[in-house]
Amino acid sequence: MEQYKIKLKGQIIESYKIEEIIWQGGTSTIYKGIPQDLNSQNPVAIKILNPYRNLKHQIDAFKKEYKILKNLSHSDIIKVFKLGKLNNLYYMIMEYVDGNNLRTILNKNIEISCPTILKILIRIGQAIEYIHSKKIVHNDIKPENILISKDFLNLKLIDFGFAKKLGFFRKLNYTGGTDKYIAPERKKGICDFKSDIYSYGIMIEELLSKYVIFEEFYPVINLAKSEQPEKRPSLKEIIEKLEKLYENWDN
Ligand SMILES: Nc1ncnc2c1ncn2[C@@H]1O[C@H](COP(=O)(O)OP(=O)(O)OP(=O)(O)O)[C@@H](O)[C@H]1O
Ligand SMILES: [Mg+2]
Repeated sequence: MEQYKIKLKGQIIESYKIEEIIWQGGTSTIYKGIPQDLNSQNPVAIKILNPYRNLKHQIDAFKKEYKILKNLSHSDIIKVFKLGKLNNLYYMIMEYVDGNNLRTILNKNIEISCPTILKILIRIGQAIEYIHSKKIVHNDIKPENILISKDFLNLKLIDFGFAKKLGFFRKLNYTGGTDKYIAPERKKGICDFKSDIYSYGIMIEELLSKYVIFEEFYPVINLAKSEQPEKRPSLKEIIEKLEKLYENWDN
């Protein structure tokens, strides 16, 4: 993999110059790209499928991720601009967020106020509500897949690598994702909107227990974590509870 890092620095993809690696993962590597076109100012993020992942099902999944994102339009969901191939590299170009993912914020104990945490959780819930309205299940809701700018104002839900458009059949033939956040039914190959609610519930628990008084949320979180999908509350219900807590916050 080291070889690819060296090869790509300074290289031009579309009209962007590869500046640095932002992330090196098992499936993909993400680079920051600087526009070479004088009319454009904004850097981009370029997600490249690691070449040793150039297997048909991985390439199909990469293309599907792009297609799903291309059809979504929401201020808190990452925008994609272009899908392409350069030699043996499959890439997608998307808007760049100068900040951290929520996992880094948690791990580095970055200072963040309680109302800000509540607002972040509300916005994540609303972004999930939006994708569900488009019949998409994200399937990988977790802090690593939420990007937040340094001033905490810009938030983006990312990584639709496991996302699925629900049709008549609700079977999944893969069970990717991070164990802690995966709803039990997903491990049996069932994919449903309620599985995202489980993951969202786990994430709310993680954030509220670290930053905010948590007791009033135990009942709703315990329901969101229910083994039985039908017992889980709706996103609307969870968001309303978070909003109440946010509005009543007095500092
Ligand atoms: N548009 C972006 N702007 C800035 N940073 C980004 C962007 N997209 C992704 N990143 C960074 O890269 C990380 C991984 O992104 P993403 O979740 O899309 O990759 P992944 O498919 O999970 O990678 P892998 O499966 O190989 O681990 C994010 O947590 C974030 O830190
Ligand atoms: Mg990810």
